Amino acid sequence: LAEDLPPNKLLGFKGIAASTADEVVIAPGYRAEVLISWGEPLVEGAAAFDAQGNNSAADQEKQFGDNNDGMSFFPIDDNHGVMAINNEYVNEQYLFAHGGSKATSLEDVRKSQAAHGVSIVAVKRAGDSQRWAVERPSRYNRRITANTEMQFSGPAAGHPLLQTAADPTGRKVLGTFGNCANGKTPWGTYLTCEENFDTYFGTHQADYQTTAEQKRYTLKVSEPERNWPDYDDRFDVAKNPNEFNRHGWIVEIDPMNPTSTPIKHTALGRFKHENAAVTVAKDGRLVVYMGDDERGEHIYKYVSKGLVDIANPANNRSLLDEGTLYVAQFDGDAGGTPLKGTGRWIALEFGKNGLTPENGFRDEAEVLIFARKAAAQVGATRMDRPEWIAVNPHDGRAYCTLTNNSKRGEEGMPLNAANPRPNNVYGQIIRWDEGGDATAASFTWDIYALCGNPIAHPEGVNRGTPNITADNTFNSPDGLGFDKAGRLWILTDGKYSNKGDYAGQGNNQMLVGDPLSGEIRRFMVGPKSCELTGITFTPDYKTMFVNVQHPGEEGDSHFPNNSPRPRSSVLMITREDGGVIGA
Ligand code: FEO
Ligand code: CA
Ligand code: CA
Ligand code: CA
Repeated sequence: LAEDLPPNKLLGFKGIAASTADEVVIAPGYRAEVLISWGEPLVEGAAAFDAQGNNSAADQEKQFGDNNDGMSFFPIDDNHGVMAINNEYVNEQYLFAHGGSKATSLEDVRKSQAAHGVSIVAVKRAGDSQRWAVERPSRYNRRITANTEMQFSGPAAGHPLLQTAADPTGRKVLGTFGNCANGKTPWGTYLTCEENFDTYFGTHQADYQTTAEQKRYTLKVSEPERNWPDYDDRFDVAKNPNEFNRHGWIVEIDPMNPTSTPIKHTALGRFKHENAAVTVAKDGRLVVYMGDDERGEHIYKYVSKGLVDIANPANNRSLLDEGTLYVAQFDGDAGGTPLKGTGRWIALEFGKNGLTPENGFRDEAEVLIFARKAAAQVGATRMDRPEWIAVNPHDGRAYCTLTNNSKRGEEGMPLNAANPRPNNVYGQIIRWDEGGDATAASFTWDIYALCGNPIAHPEGVNRGTPNITADNTFNSPDGLGFDKAGRLWILTDGKYSNKGDYAGQGNNQMLVGDPLSGEIRRFMVGPKSCELTGITFTPDYKTMFVNVQHPGEEGDSHFPNNSPRPRSSVLMITREDGGVIGA
């Protein structure tokens, strides 16, 4: 157990300095190599990548998608595996040959849609080393895009709010996009989480009245970030208002079956899903912790009705459809040192806790489709943008990155114990302890790291907790994952100006924390204006995969390999001596 290891045995590498270089910098004794980049041929018959953006939408449908984010490795045997990799969004200036920030044709929209979704990539071990390579061809290689046919399941499937002219059943839906992070079930399927789905919808109908529910999901009709509705009516909310309700879910994919239909599980609620931290409670029920990444949104937990049955995978089919969704309330003293407190999980069940017709909920499906509204109704705590959650395999404590919140302290978002800083530019990592029972109704919590910058702020609340130092300072923790030994891997998606509040922090980076001593060391730094995200390991923990997402979004990178247009890429990390990563 991690508790038995002296802290100096957990972090076995030498921490590195911050970097502003346009390259990957990693701890001594480690290698970081590109496994696959946006646009590489994946499915049989795929065209070669064109570095000037001239690939067509049809080409992109068979190539690796853009902006790789959360991902999981699924082993087949010691030398063969399948990776499921999210393709969250696109950088239009690099996707389109014209270099503009908007689609200018239906072909552009189709290319963008084809670059979104999920890539299923078979990998093979290279010889007897810890290096792996993409397997081409492979029967497993597959693209799932914003146009792939999927099914709804769970309490809201078929509900009138999910019905459209193209799908009067409310059970068949096209595509997934905004696929941020991920989860993995004990029965070997992949969960992909739909996050910023609102930015794909809009309308030019000048008198269109946005509903209260659409506003609750931050729909801005006249200025969608991605202008799909200009060319594809499915995303025009005046013409197809319910299509908007069909996104913002968690989708289950079987990576081993290339003809399987992905399933959107409505029991897990609809919000801007970051990741899905899956664990099995001591009584065998499935538990999924989930963050809703928006300023002031909430942390959720789903508990299945039935028990996980590894021996009979078919018995697990209903576990993500029948269960209870809860939302967290964090209590405590905002002035306390250290910050800590208690909390409880409040059930989002129709007819209970004020989730009634008088308050605008007609059935359980409406509670799930408008989970944000239900969470506010029951008094959930407004958090500083919940990003990833990860569960320590040794003690069951769950950690969540609260990335930052420029609006904390403003009207409607007062300080509270778990979110204690006004204009929170650095973020914090909170953790909760349910006493070893992941189905518990209550918990205690504390702050693992209140991020800060001792270089810019030697004193005061923006210095951070004592485990933040001039040598490891970072902002905006986002990706999070535990390895088998209990090392906490922290990936950042923050400001990279290296000035002012961010002086000395350099580019986005990956660090490793010891959960017990609290020590944090910097392990790797990414190239210019990228985010580091997505983390998964081979079963022997001797190969780690991490994503470089949107390098050069500010027009300042040629990553990787002096590429004319920068490309999001999956990195493969190995140790020169073939040992366990981080040990
Ligand atoms: Fe896609 Fe909240 O990060
Ligand atoms: Ca991202
Ligand atoms: Ca994220
Ligand atoms: Ca982020």
